[in-house]
Amino acid sequence: MQISNGVRKIPFGTITITEDSKDLIMQILDSKRVSSGRYVREFEEKFAELTGNREAVAVSSGTDADALALAVLYDFGAKRGDEIIIPALSFSATGNAVLHAGFKPVFVDIEKETLNIDPLKIEEKITERTRAIMPVHLMGKPAKMDEIRKIAKKYNLYVVSDAAEAHGAIYKGKNVGALSDLSAYSLYLAHLISSIEGGIITTNNPDFAEILRSLRTHGRACKCKTCVLNMQSGFCPKRFQDGQDIRFIFERVGFSSKMNELEAAVGLGNLKIYNDILEKRRKNLLTLMKSFEKFEPYLTTVREEKDEKIGPHAFPFIVKEEASFDRNQLAAHLEKNGIETRNLFSSMPTQCKGFSFLGYKLGDFPNAEYAGNNGLHIGVHQDINKEDIDYIIKTVEQFL
Ligand SMILES: Cc1ncc(COP(=O)(O)O)c(C=O)c1O
Repeated sequence: MQISNGVRKIPFGTITITEDSKDLIMQILDSKRVSSGRYVREFEEKFAELTGNREAVAVSSGTDADALALAVLYDFGAKRGDEIIIPALSFSATGNAVLHAGFKPVFVDIEKETLNIDPLKIEEKITERTRAIMPVHLMGKPAKMDEIRKIAKKYNLYVVSDAAEAHGAIYKGKNVGALSDLSAYSLYLAHLISSIEGGIITTNNPDFAEILRSLRTHGRACKCKTCVLNMQSGFCPKRFQDGQDIRFIFERVGFSSKMNELEAAVGLGNLKIYNDILEKRRKNLLTLMKSFEKFEPYLTTVREEKDEKIGPHAFPFIVKEEASFDRNQLAAHLEKNGIETRNLFSSMPTQCKGFSFLGYKLGDFPNAEYAGNNGLHIGVHQDINKEDIDYIIKTVEQFL
């Protein structure tokens, strides 16, 4: 990365905007067909194929992807105020999205080793009002999907993954985004595939996809895959049915959450170079994981198991209780030396004020709270090279 005033700068995130994307953006601008249309559709098709799904529906953020994926459940018997089980540790967007969708988040502590929802603690939280389990594959590490799916089957629940950070994550040979009823990704710029802002939901169920298309445009009855209203002809042969204009029939409580063509153009460029980005990020992540083994007396991180591949979103590490320094001292040292850090979020129910109305108390989620107080994560993105990784390791060594 670039050196400024003698200090190497290693930002947390980056985005690659390819030359193809730039050309396409100019074409789209000239055409004035900038709202959701054929390039969004093309992006959806390619994203579905990449993740091993039949369908993908693009929306305007990862948070909306979570919320819309959950809102689908209203068409399948869910009632407002029903409960969704989510991990206590995640970016607050997960909990926000559950509330945006009109459900109540019910939190479960995480496993220390994986940073993901602890399957052994899920069953005790299931009530008559539980409708879904929403695992988060935090930092791209797949949640324990076999155990989660087994519980879901036993209690007749849906599994809706927050896969915001899980691009490229593989669980037992399968893309993690193909293992849930619905999976919601973020396409924000720090993520492996990005459209600058954006989100996308994948599913193997065409009925879910149809409802998602309705939800993202205000709950309209008009939900074709290829909305011809956005096409050159401008006329939709399906628009008037039984003497009614279906564009103005609203079948469900919807959202306003379309992706636009310019964002899709950036996303399409990212898909073209997906393997290259994935490879670079995986290399950076695995090198950091291996190198941090020597810091084990003070810092811990997640491990990659034989039957999984961590999706290289970022590199998390947690200051151990035995260490004589705290997370903020280490973060300050890294930042002073040009390495951007992020806290490892926090326990949503007990460390985020916004969720305090739910009535949880400090101590309810010891593992999530520990990670929230003592964890950090740093970038592993495609603009970070070998010298940067060596520099990060040297900078941590200096501190210790
Ligand atoms: C776990 C998780 N869920 C949801 C989101 C929300 O995504 P967005 O910022 O695109 O709304 C993020 C964002 O990074 C995230 O990390």
